[in-house]
Amino acid sequence: MVYFENVEKRYPDGTLAVDGLNLEVESGEFVVLIGPSGCGKTTSLKMINRLEECTGGKIYVNGKDIMTLNPVKLRRQIGYVIQERGLMPHHTVAENIATVPLLLGWPKKKIDARVDELLDMAGLPKEKYKYRLPAQMSGGQQQRIGVLRALASDPEVVLMDEPFGALDPISRDNLQNELLTIHKKLKKTIIFVTHDISEALKLADRIVLMRRGKIEQIGTPDELINNPATKFVEEFIGSDQLSQISGDASVTALLEDVIMEVNLNAAIEDVLEDMQDRDVKSAQVTDAKRRWHGSIYLSTLKKAKREGKQLVKETLSVNRKLYVEDGNLKDAAEMLVDMEAPIPIINSANELQGIVTEKGMAKYTINKLIK
Ligand SMILES: Nc1ncnc2c1ncn2[C@@H]1O[C@H](COP(=O)(O)OP(=O)(O)OP(=O)(O)O)[C@@H](O)[C@H]1O
Ligand SMILES: [Mg+2]
Repeated sequence: MVYFENVEKRYPDGTLAVDGLNLEVESGEFVVLIGPSGCGKTTSLKMINRLEECTGGKIYVNGKDIMTLNPVKLRRQIGYVIQERGLMPHHTVAENIATVPLLLGWPKKKIDARVDELLDMAGLPKEKYKYRLPAQMSGGQQQRIGVLRALASDPEVVLMDEPFGALDPISRDNLQNELLTIHKKLKKTIIFVTHDISEALKLADRIVLMRRGKIEQIGTPDELINNPATKFVEEFIGSDQLSQISGDASVTALLEDVIMEVNLNAAIEDVLEDMQDRDVKSAQVTDAKRRWHGSIYLSTLKKAKREGKQLVKETLSVNRKLYVEDGNLKDAAEMLVDMEAPIPIINSANELQGIVTEKGMAKYTINKLIK
């Protein structure tokens, strides 16, 4: 879909920004360009839609040498999200999104419907946002509008230059997820620039790691992590170990043996004594087949005893649990923030698989940090 053949860019002052770039981006692929500041990412992106002209080699878009195309027409075929949103401040959200369709001469009705459809897709209610000015929206919302504007005319190729750079981590995470959903649904070819390695690992089908205008390595996130081609790649990827603790990782990464397991028919009195002896504050309640029935806590057991209850099965907490099949570390972290007791991990047959603890999560983080 986008093909770089020995592409070179030397700026008039002599700076060699891109030095012999060879890259083939396939249709529907999500490629992330990453590398240190000044390595030529933005320049590479801008050459695709001829905001900068290459000084050597050739670039093909959809099989056509871009030098044979009219640059204005070329740009209208390619979505482009620049850093810092770049919305027109005196135009409404609707007008901003409609920029390229207007230039392409779409009928008004079609444009209007397209704007509504896009706002809907980004979870921005049109009644509320359509006629706002950019300044009346939050940074994250403006960033969304920037992305929608690039998608408006339904281009096959979308270029994005650090589109989420200026956002707080939560908005960033949300927008990344939205972008992944959009990419899955619309199958656009996306070339995305970032210098955030965790963002690259999360989003990319393939990562292109650049250094001083050249490609250091091209590969899937797994290939770059597991088979770094050079010391530079290893250090670049490794520079961000912490962020590899992805919230999307399965809870199985942190699964530990159950500290205390109690039979469903045990007496509250006995269990209380046992817990106090062993100095534990919670336990998992199972039956003879090791099916999980709930958790018990020291505090609730004491209360149940005062209320005259006899058996642990009369005081079970059943809502706080995660499934081994789909529980992820983010879910676990959120639960641990609410309450530090171990989280029972069960499978879809309700069998107890283990627990995830606050201590286990801390250990994991620490190990990643000192690696
Ligand atoms: N118009 C220009 N004239 C001269 N040199 C330029 C020009 N634009 C960029 N450069 C130089 O080209 C090199 C590559 O710049 P580019 O903007 O592509 O880097 P980048 O990888 O996008 O960096 P960053 O991560 O900081 O955005 C840098 O050395 C930069 O100083
Ligand atoms: Mg740049």
